[in-house]
Amino acid sequence: MTVTRVLVVEPHAPETELLTAPAIREAAAILRRGGLVAFPTETVYGLGAVATDARAVARLFAAKGRPADNPLIVHLAAAEDAVRVARDIPPEAWRLWARYAPGPLTLVLPSRGTVAPAALAGLPTVAVRIPAHPVARALIRAAGAPIVAPSANRSGRPSPTTAAHVLEDLAGRIDAVVDGGPAGIGLESTVLDVTRRPAIVLRPGAVTVEMLEAVLGDGAVVDPAAPLREGEAPRSPGMKYRHYAPDVPLALLDLEDGAGAAVEALRALLAGSGPPPAVLATEEDAARLRALLAAAGVPSEKVLWVIVGRRSEPQTVAAALYGAFRSLRPEAVSRAFFVRLPETGLFRAVMNRVRKAAGDPPFPG
Ligand code: TXA
Ligand code: MG
Repeated sequence: MTVTRVLVVEPHAPETELLTAPAIREAAAILRRGGLVAFPTETVYGLGAVATDARAVARLFAAKGRPADNPLIVHLAAAEDAVRVARDIPPEAWRLWARYAPGPLTLVLPSRGTVAPAALAGLPTVAVRIPAHPVARALIRAAGAPIVAPSANRSGRPSPTTAAHVLEDLAGRIDAVVDGGPAGIGLESTVLDVTRRPAIVLRPGAVTVEMLEAVLGDGAVVDPAAPLREGEAPRSPGMKYRHYAPDVPLALLDLEDGAGAAVEALRALLAGSGPPPAVLATEEDAARLRALLAAAGVPSEKVLWVIVGRRSEPQTVAAALYGAFRSLRPEAVSRAFFVRLPETGLFRAVMNRVRKAAGDPPFPG
C-alpha cells in the first residue's frame, strides 16, 4: 500500500508558471524516480509513468488492473517530439497536428521501438497524443520524458474527470495525483489509426470525423462503429469491446421511436418494490419525458433524475457524463436509463461511451 499524495495546483495557471510550481516539480521528480502520478488533461485525468521505464509501466498496469493486451497512449509536449517514439510518420499525421495539436487527438503510428514494449502491449505501433492542458504540458516538460497516460481509473470503471474520482479508484495504489480542478471535455481523446488509408477511427472523441476530413479530405477517414451512411456497404466489425460501466445496469431509452414502450416500461418498474430507477437525460429530454409520463398517468416523483447537461450545448453533456455514471449507487437505484441522443458531432462520442457502458442491451424488450 502506497500513500497517495495530493499535489494541488492553481486550476487556471498558465503552463510557463506551472513549470516552476513546487507541485509540478515534485510530481515530475516522482515520475523520474519511476513513480505513478495522475494529472488532469483537457479530456480526462490520466495516470502517468515514464514511457521508457519498463518497471514503472508494469506498476501502472497493476495499479489499474489493466489487461496486458491493451496498449497505452504516449503523451508528448510537442508534435516534433513524435520522431523520438515513432518512425515513418505519414504526411497525414503532420497535417492533422498542424491543425489539432495540442488537443484531444491521438494518432496511431509505426513505433520506433524506444518505448517500453509492455506499454505498447507488444504491438508494432505507438499511439501519440499532445495534450493541451497546461498542467499536463508542464508536467511532461518538467519530467523531460515521454509519458504514458491511460485514463486514471480502475480498469472497466468510468474515466475520472476530477481528482476526487481518481482517489475513489486509485488511492493507495499510486504515488500522487496533481489536483488541477475538473478536466475539460470529459471524454477521452479521438484515437485515429493513420497507418492505414483511409485512416480509421478507433475511438470517437471531441475531434470528430468531420473535423478530421476537413483537413484530410472527404472519404479520407472511416469510423467503423458509426451508423452506416445512406447507401454505404456494411463494414467489417472487429472493434474490441470495452466498458465504461457504472455500478448499476444501464439501458437506453428512446424518446424518438417507441416513446410509448419506454413509458410503459418505466410504469412497470415504478410499480414494483425496491430502489427506484434512475433516468440520465439532458435538461430538455428530462422535461420531455416528465411530460410524457405525466400524460400517461405514470407517477414520476420516484424516478431519480440525473441531469446530464443540456442537449442544446453538447459539450455540457460530455463534461457531465462520467460524473453521472459514478453517481449511480446500487443502494439507491435498481437500474439506470440514458435517454438516447442523435449520433452526430460530439454526441457521437457520448453515445459511443453510453452504448459501451450499456453493453447494448435492447430496452424495452
Ligand atoms: O484522452 C485520452 O486519450 C486519455 C488522456 C489521459 O490522455 N487517455 C486515455 O487512455 O483515454 P486509455 O489508455 O484509457 O485509452 C487508450 C486507448 C485504448 O482504447 C487503447 O486500446 C488505444 O487507445 N490504443 C493505445 N495504443 C494503441 C495502438 N498502438 N493501436 C491501437 N489502439 C491503441
Ligand atoms: Mg481508459
